[in-house]
This record gives sequence, C-alpha cells and structure tokens, in this order.
Amino acid sequence: MKRASWKSKLGFIFAAAGSAVGLANIWRFPYIVGQYGGAAFICIYLVCLFLIGFPVFISEVLIGRTAQKNPAGAFKKLGGDSFWTGSGLFTVITGFIISSFYSVIAGWVLGYLIASIGGLSTHFSSLAEVQSYFKHLVGNPVWGLAFHLIFMVLCFGLLFLGVRKGLERGSKILVPFLIVILIALVISGLSLPGSEKGLAFYFKPNWSLITPTTFLIALGHSFFTLSLGQGTMVTYGSYLSPKDNIPKSCFPIALIDTFIALLAGMAIFPIVFSVGLSPDEGAPLIFYTLPLAFSQLKGGYIFAILFFLLLTLAAITSQISALEPLIAYLMDEKKWRRKKAVIFVCLTSFLLGIPMIFSNFVAHKFLVFGHSLWDLVSMIALDIMVPIGGFLALILIAWRWGFKKAYHALKEGTEGLFERNILVKGYFWLSLKFTAPLLVILIFLKAIGLF
Ligand code: PHE
Repeated sequence: MKRASWKSKLGFIFAAAGSAVGLANIWRFPYIVGQYGGAAFICIYLVCLFLIGFPVFISEVLIGRTAQKNPAGAFKKLGGDSFWTGSGLFTVITGFIISSFYSVIAGWVLGYLIASIGGLSTHFSSLAEVQSYFKHLVGNPVWGLAFHLIFMVLCFGLLFLGVRKGLERGSKILVPFLIVILIALVISGLSLPGSEKGLAFYFKPNWSLITPTTFLIALGHSFFTLSLGQGTMVTYGSYLSPKDNIPKSCFPIALIDTFIALLAGMAIFPIVFSVGLSPDEGAPLIFYTLPLAFSQLKGGYIFAILFFLLLTLAAITSQISALEPLIAYLMDEKKWRRKKAVIFVCLTSFLLGIPMIFSNFVAHKFLVFGHSLWDLVSMIALDIMVPIGGFLALILIAWRWGFKKAYHALKEGTEGLFERNILVKGYFWLSLKFTAPLLVILIFLKAIGLF
C-alpha cells in the first residue's frame, strides 16, 4: 500500500500547527503558570522551548521523514535494534494514554460550548456563581461521559476520512481566529479593576517560587504543547517528502504555539486577580475566569460561543494527532486496514477515558498515592513519559544514528540554510548533541532530588 502523504507543501505545516495548538496552550499553560510561579515559570519554560523543545521537534520530524514509518518502525529503522523499536512503541503508547484524558477535558470544553449556545455560560456576576456552575457540570459524571463520547465520535469521524481528506486546512482558519478572540479577551481583561496585579504576576519574575519540580513541569509542558515525546511529530514527519524544508516548516509552528499560550495567559491573569481568585486554582482556572469575562463583555454571548467552538476545534485537531501514531503503527506493523485501526484506537481510547472521568467524582474514595486517577495518569504521562520519549528521540538522532548522518538528512530541502548561516548549524549541533539531552538528564535528576 502506498504511504499517505501531505496533499500540499503547506499540508504538514497546517496539520502540525493544528496538532500543536490546543488545550495545552489555552487550558493548561495558564493554570500551570498559576501553580508554578508566574513570570519566573514562563522564563524557564521559554528557555526549555528554545534549548530542548525545538531541537526535539526537529529530531522527531526528521526521524519520521527519514524513515517514512510509524514511530516504532522509524525508531527501529534508525536505531537498528529492538531497544529502539521498544522506544518508538513507548512514544506511541504515551500518545495513546494522553488521548484518553485529553478527550475528557476536551469534553468539558465541548460541554461549555453547548451551554454557551443555550446562553447558560454568560450570566454570571460573581466568582462563587461560576465556581458552583463548574462544579455542578463537571460534578455530573453523565455530563462528563456524554461529552467525552461526543468529542471522541467527532474525532473518529475525521480520522475515518484519513490524512489526505482530513483537517489539513482547518487550522489555517482556526488559528488566526483563535488569536483574534484571545486578543479581544486580553483587551477586555486589562480594563478590569485590579488587572495590573495580574500583569505583575505574569511579567515580573519572583524566583523564590521556583522549585526543582518547576523545571520538570516546564520541560514536560514544552514537549506536550509541541506534541512531542508521544509519536505525533514522528508520524506527521513520516508523511513528508525529502524535498520539504524541516526547520523552515517547524519554526513558525513553535512560534505561533508559544504566542498563543502567552496570549492565553495574558487573557486569564488580569481576570484572575481582578475577581480575587487564587492563581493556583489548577485545572478549572479557565472555566472559572472566562465565563465571568464573557458575562461582562459586550457581545459576550457570541464571544463565548466562538471561543468554545474554536477551542473545541483546536482540541479535535490535537486529539486526532495524538491518536494517529497508534493508527499508523497498527497499519504499518500489524498490517491492519486503516478503518479497522481507527475504530480500534478510538474505541479503546474512549474506554480508557471513562475511569478517569469517574475518578474526578469519587476521587476521595479512590486515591492512588494521594491523587485521583486522572491526576496521576496525566502527571505520569506529561511529566515523565513525554520527556523520556523526547529524550529518546534526541539520543537516537544525535548519538545512535549519529549527528553527521542526521545533519546531512536535515540539510535536505533547506536550500543552503545551514551553509549560509553558521549560527543555525552551531545551534543544532550543540543542542541536539549536548545541551538538550544533558538538560533533560539534569532536570530529571534534580526533580528526583539526586543533587
Ligand atoms: N499539543 C497539543 C495541545 O497543545 C496536545 C497534544 C498532545 C497533541 C498529544 C498531540 C499529542 O493541546
């Protein structure tokens, strides 16, 4: 069977941007900034992106493009033995686990979209009201389950159509719209009384809030937001041809992804401080703040619908990219037909999400090491498995396959970029071979308290 490929040169850019931009930017980034130290966390996060995230991004796409295979097959092709097959499979499994709890949160967003259409999420005048509304909705497992199911069915439908007919072009419209809405929210947030405290939290680093865990969270998130360490970019890279310019395609994606996350934080924190919410509220942060903002905004009804619609769409393009590696694996390695693989992967991911929904409601009864199942699974996947997956890609490219070969392959399609610009070559050489893998090791050792 001929391998699928992107329809046009821009197909990869749109699909990879659609994968990168999602709940990690708008839902997770603000709440971890709130939990782990505001501006100081952002600084560490940006450094992680530049020194580790971006080199991993390039490595993964390069692995995929070179091998033209799913992550397990691609790691094997470049690494040569079963350790590397296992490593590739590990990233596929990570993506699959992520897809199961990603869908739970995406279900909340979809649920808020439906509530917004009914005019239910723009009638708030106090923090207590939005909080009790959130708890009322999310505290109802039937609501959570229904939207988890609907979200997964939507993704299933799109995946069934395949890579070519899929959402290649969706993000072309989606991302600019999302930026416009976020800018509107930033402007309206800044007009609120007390918003300057939010800006100070967001822009003035307070280094005393930083702990070793902060680095691990920043690292994990820089991978998660670029869809790294979980097979996605290897798989999307495998639909590229050698003619494509990898650095030139990846750079704008990382830039837009970061810009959207920063905008989301700028929209949220003025509201957080203005309404007297604690910034470390955690996962409900956007659901506590944005409906309040929409309630006060002129045209808030339309804004709320548009916002939750766009976020749902952004989550869909991310979710299908989290499911794609396992689908590609089953097709390449197990010779399954695409349709069979899509049905199997969507169904099992849906089923895996169910205990996580219920763990949010009966959390007090089923704590594992003091965490609900959802917390625990997302922590293990995002803060441990994802960084390990990204680290393995780096080692594979720079040490196992070898930087020389990798560099030669990376140069293909770049039209002399590396020859013209010695700094670019230096950056990749240094980061792929040394800084990025070493920093990952250091952050891990520090997080487990080894030094
Ligand atoms: N990067 C996506 C986001 O920002 C999340 C994602 C995770 C995508 C796993 C693919 C795989 O929401």
